[in-house]
Amino acid sequence: MQIVILKNSAEVAEYGANIFIKQLGKKPDSVLGLATGSTPVSLYQSLIRANKEQLISFKEVTSFNLDEYLGLEGTHPQSYRYFMNQQLFEHVDINKANTHVPPGDAENPIEACVGYEERIEAAGGIDIQLLGIGRNGHIGFNEPSSGLMSRTRVKTLTKATIDDNARFFAEDEYQPHLSITMGIGTILDARKVVLLATGENKADAILATVEGALTAACPASALQLHKNAVLVIDEAAASKLS
Ligand code: F6R
Repeated sequence: MQIVILKNSAEVAEYGANIFIKQLGKKPDSVLGLATGSTPVSLYQSLIRANKEQLISFKEVTSFNLDEYLGLEGTHPQSYRYFMNQQLFEHVDINKANTHVPPGDAENPIEACVGYEERIEAAGGIDIQLLGIGRNGHIGFNEPSSGLMSRTRVKTLTKATIDDNARFFAEDEYQPHLSITMGIGTILDARKVVLLATGENKADAILATVEGALTAACPASALQLHKNAVLVIDEAAASKLS
């Protein structure tokens, strides 16, 4: 696991974006694994700029998002499909038909999970997977105790994650407690993994990921097993590393 420590969140976003820009330069038909949440927003803004400046194109890209709330349609403003459309897809030259987010409105979520894995495989696997990290060490919605070899499945969210994400929902709005998420095994299959973390509130999770034991108690610690994983973090997130 390679660790890159930068001054602040702006530098983290720029560094992360450059990894994706290089990847698309090298392989314009890359299969990208994408994430939602606050952390990747600035990285997506950099990619949008690079696309407008014609440094990169998404025309041949296929994408797979990590996760989605179960029970929300893609048109719901809190759904991750909606987030991706707003934050990236509608601003770049990607063919939306080639973008995949687990279907939060699937009639049969279990079948949908199997289908998601099949689509990733049919696309040739993920070239580069972007990750954020939860305060509890989750990646995707793989909460603590997730199997380290798990595949895309329905997962219950922990109270910590529900509380952390409550900021996106109005007080009287329905907030799902279930998700569909790629598994840790699915993430580990990506040829390259780039995890971004910024801020002091991620310092414990980063400490457990980098210096802790390999354990399902900290799902991100599974990245210790990956041959080509890079953690791009700011000084605050790195503050508890020895
Ligand atoms: C999002 C995701 C989550 C987030 C994590 C951090 O698709 O899979 O694991 O990456 O919860 O979220 P932020 O970036 O909002 O701190």
